[in-house]
Amino acid sequence: MQKIVSKALKGLTGEITIPSDKSISHRGIILSSLARGKSVIKNFSNGQDPHSTMKIFKQLGVDIELINESEVIINSNGKLSVPSCNLDCGNSGTTMRLLSGILAGQGFNSTLTGDTSLSKRPMKRVIEPLELMGARIESKDFKAPLKIFGTELNAINYTSKITSAQVKSCILLAGGVNVKSGVTTFTEPSLSRNHTELMLKAMGANITTNGTTVSIEKSELAPLEIEICGDISSAAFFIVAGLIIPNSKILLKNVGLNPTRAGIIEVVKQMGGNLTILDERNIGGEPVGDVLVEYSQLNGCKIGGEIIPRLIDEIPVIAVLATQAKGETLISDAQDLRNKESDRITAVVTELKKLGADIDETPDGMLIRGCKLSGGAKVETYHDHRLAMSLYVAGLVCQKEILINGFEWVDISFPTFEKLFTDLGHK
Ligand code: S3P
Repeated sequence: MQKIVSKALKGLTGEITIPSDKSISHRGIILSSLARGKSVIKNFSNGQDPHSTMKIFKQLGVDIELINESEVIINSNGKLSVPSCNLDCGNSGTTMRLLSGILAGQGFNSTLTGDTSLSKRPMKRVIEPLELMGARIESKDFKAPLKIFGTELNAINYTSKITSAQVKSCILLAGGVNVKSGVTTFTEPSLSRNHTELMLKAMGANITTNGTTVSIEKSELAPLEIEICGDISSAAFFIVAGLIIPNSKILLKNVGLNPTRAGIIEVVKQMGGNLTILDERNIGGEPVGDVLVEYSQLNGCKIGGEIIPRLIDEIPVIAVLATQAKGETLISDAQDLRNKESDRITAVVTELKKLGADIDETPDGMLIRGCKLSGGAKVETYHDHRLAMSLYVAGLVCQKEILINGFEWVDISFPTFEKLFTDLGHK
């Protein structure tokens, strides 16, 4: 699907409620399916990725019902049954990597498949530690499809070279539900998102965290009752649009502000952005607030080191933000961006250049110098929802209209994306 985006002729104003968090929605389905009893998830994401996870657990024999598009009722005996087909993870890396940890320890074999983008993404990062636990996984060059031969696993003490919540969650799930006995310990270079740990703890797992190390023992999980907060990764597109479109003032309601996810807030403040957090509260065990954002004069800054995992999914739209800031913005230590739904370093640089941005690729990030965007070009989305939405935001400040090819990828995480822009007055 192609989408034409024209310059925003007036500021975005009003308030919107940010839809459900994708990462937490995945984990809600996965952990509820492993618990014995009836779980209830409110405000479940309507993105395609969490729906891929939901479909797979139905295929694994769990009784899952979706009511009114956003409430999920899960009745499980805590056990999975042999699937009668391959399990299709679609575009979702989270589904494939977390499922690997669970399926590796089942008493049956299974195969995980994915779409073109997912089939190119590296799975060695989960296969390697799972094999150390005794798993048997067949793949072609560590890429999907993954043929998993279920077997009993052993606890391990593993130090990961990369910071990745997907790898961490995979090993914690394997250690928490599959091993015979013992403590599984996972250490990462810096702290990645901790939704799995929070949810496991809330469900009664024997899990402890100490800095960047998490330890888990085989645990019986109690059912889950949760209302999922809004996704800061979705809010990010509106935060950036509000900051760069003159005369904008918008209130984003129900934004998840877990510190392991909220790096973009720190960056905006560092750049001089006018952003205020209101009504801080706790929803479903996660910190939440409303974010008020206004058009601002911004300055470039340096973004690197331990903050990167806390804003990893926001980097494409932060690059758009940086094109509208005075001076240079350097993003470094973000080489894992090359392993996302697309190579997000090359893709962002290539496509923003087409719109007139002054931007250069580096091995582990990008260097952006603020300038006006000319637009008047056709851009590509590389099967990548976050690229599609970032380019849309860029289009709002381009002099001439742009054409986005492959805009349908937005539905992976945020089907109501464009409607919410309309609600804020964009025509
Ligand atoms: C996710 C973790 C991150 C993130 C992805 C969702 C998760 O990936 O980029 O969109 O839900 O655990 P990595 O764990 O590979 O960094």
